[in-house]
Amino acid sequence: MQIIIVPTPEALGDAAADLILRRADAGELRVLGVATGSSPVPVYRSLAERAAGRLSGVTAIALDEYVGIDPDHPESYHSVIDREVTVPLGLDPSAVHVPDGDVGGLPTAGERYEGLIRACGGVDVQILGIGATGHIGFNEPGSSLASRTRVKTLTPQTRSDNARFFAEQKDVPVHCVTQGLGTIMDAREVLLVAWGDAKSEAVAAAVEGPVTSMCPGSVLQMHPNATVIVDEAAAARLT
Ligand code: F6R
Repeated sequence: MQIIIVPTPEALGDAAADLILRRADAGELRVLGVATGSSPVPVYRSLAERAAGRLSGVTAIALDEYVGIDPDHPESYHSVIDREVTVPLGLDPSAVHVPDGDVGGLPTAGERYEGLIRACGGVDVQILGIGATGHIGFNEPGSSLASRTRVKTLTPQTRSDNARFFAEQKDVPVHCVTQGLGTIMDAREVLLVAWGDAKSEAVAAAVEGPVTSMCPGSVLQMHPNATVIVDEAAAARLT
């Protein structure tokens, strides 16, 4: 695991974008795994400024989606990915995929998404954020390290952390469809980004703590090609 500490979220965005564009220029990026939330925003901003067509043939596969939210809702991950990734990076919308959070399709949502990832040839570079609970994707503490895409329940802490995106806390969905930890670990390369003091405990636990399902991000210690880019605030508890 390679750890890169940079001074600011903007520098984090540039360092992550550098890595992604290097892979794209080398012809090693056909499928980019994308995360939502605040962590990757500086990455997408830097990519939008510098990609200029270099990512136009890339397929994007999102990590997760809320259950029971209309895909047109501004905070559905369908909408967020469209607004923050597809449009600014100039991706072909038909090559951007987000799990199906429709209640009617739930029994097969995980299996269908796993099939889609396989049909795309797997993820070349997976961008990840980490939650205060140590989750990656929406694999909350206790998730099996071998898990595949499935329905999960969000913890009260994650629902409260994500309430900032909704009018009221009660509007934050309770369930999600998320790639599993085993699914994420299948990516050929993983790139975790975290910034700000609120992430320092989760970063220290994931990078330097024991590998345990109680800190799902710690599974990345077992990945053969993992890079963690953090700003100084998020790195504050690393020894
Ligand atoms: C989002 C996702 C989550 C977030 C995590 C951190 O697709 O999978 O793991 O990366 O909740 O969220 P932020 O970046 O908003 O702090």
